[in-house]
Amino acid sequence: MEPIPYAKQFVDEDDIEAVVKVLRSSHLTQGSKVTEFEALFSSYVDASYGLAVSSGTAGLHLAVKALGLKPGEKVLTTSNTFVATANSVLYEKGQIDFVDIDPKTYLMDLGKLEEKLARSKPGEFKGVIVVDFGGCPIDLERLAKITHKFGLWIIEDACHALGARFQDSKGVWQKTGNCKFADVSVFSFHPVKHITSGEGGLITTNRKELFDKMALLRSHGITKDSALFTQESHGGWYYEMQDLGYNYRLSDINCALACSQLKKIDTFLARRKEIAKFYNTELKGLKNFFLAETNPRFENSYHLYVCRATNRKALYDYLRERNIFSQVLYIPVHQQPYYRKIHNWNDVLPETNKYYESALALPMYATLKDEEMQLIVDSIKSFYRS
Ligand SMILES: Cc1ncc(COP(=O)(O)O)c(C=O)c1O
Repeated sequence: MEPIPYAKQFVDEDDIEAVVKVLRSSHLTQGSKVTEFEALFSSYVDASYGLAVSSGTAGLHLAVKALGLKPGEKVLTTSNTFVATANSVLYEKGQIDFVDIDPKTYLMDLGKLEEKLARSKPGEFKGVIVVDFGGCPIDLERLAKITHKFGLWIIEDACHALGARFQDSKGVWQKTGNCKFADVSVFSFHPVKHITSGEGGLITTNRKELFDKMALLRSHGITKDSALFTQESHGGWYYEMQDLGYNYRLSDINCALACSQLKKIDTFLARRKEIAKFYNTELKGLKNFFLAETNPRFENSYHLYVCRATNRKALYDYLRERNIFSQVLYIPVHQQPYYRKIHNWNDVLPETNKYYESALALPMYATLKDEEMQLIVDSIKSFYRS
């Protein structure tokens, strides 16, 4: 059997054709595919505005900058995430602080967040970045209630959670990225994610002024809109740089692939759910091996399937010898050498540390075959028997 990775993209002939069409056209970048993808995606997640960007990382950075973080200002986040989440604050010379995770969901513990804010000085924190880790949506309604009285903005790092949703207190399903409770949500289309554009990301928001600001910053802080000019135009070629921005644009080549991939999202999600159900059933009750708790109010879109094993390293090696490449996600951000130099958070994040000691992500992707799933569960069972 071929090696089984923990994640993999699915690209079909329709995707290839869509990309080739752009390659044969007059616009490889800044053409119609970008706006088409933005409209399709924001409508899929029920948000008013969508802004395609070169990566999820670029999206997080633009969000933090557009929300106006100033040097030295503090933002709260989780350490159980990819480094990009916290780095977005450091890019703006802000200060990061971490809240521990809930051991049942692996998401930021909102009870601990509430306690931390209750102890904080007025105005001490400016915002919070939460992560829908693995595809499990966080309770944004509860988060918004907690942070509202402290005046914090909310960024939802939804890089793992396209297609997830949760039921709010009125019983209404809220799609990840609809920004009903968050100021901004950010998605990634790296090939391990639900859909891919090669590299790429997208920001959603319902706040027009934030969207405009992020759109300006995405392209060097330059506007070509004469209605916005602050100086007199010199002629048809005239443009103005009004802020210090970046080149965080996504090309039409990437967006053509993303549009084509988005058409298949419901099939991708259904298969991921099927795989999770199979793992949940087959791996339940194994000694020294624990599955994540599920909650019918929080519909996971399963970017990852994370379990916990007391002898994780041995299991990881055992599976690897059998060509099954599970993965450990994540090494906590606060344990990275760069972050250790900033501050020692070790004693205040016990659940994040415990999680890291035992977490293992099993292969999860839409094209994982039935016989591969069977081999994975058989191998895990035989590991615990041997
Ligand atoms: C939780 C999280 N946030 C942000 C990112 C950054 O996304 P990108 O790789 O598109 O820059 C990732 C990517 O893996 C991620 O997993």
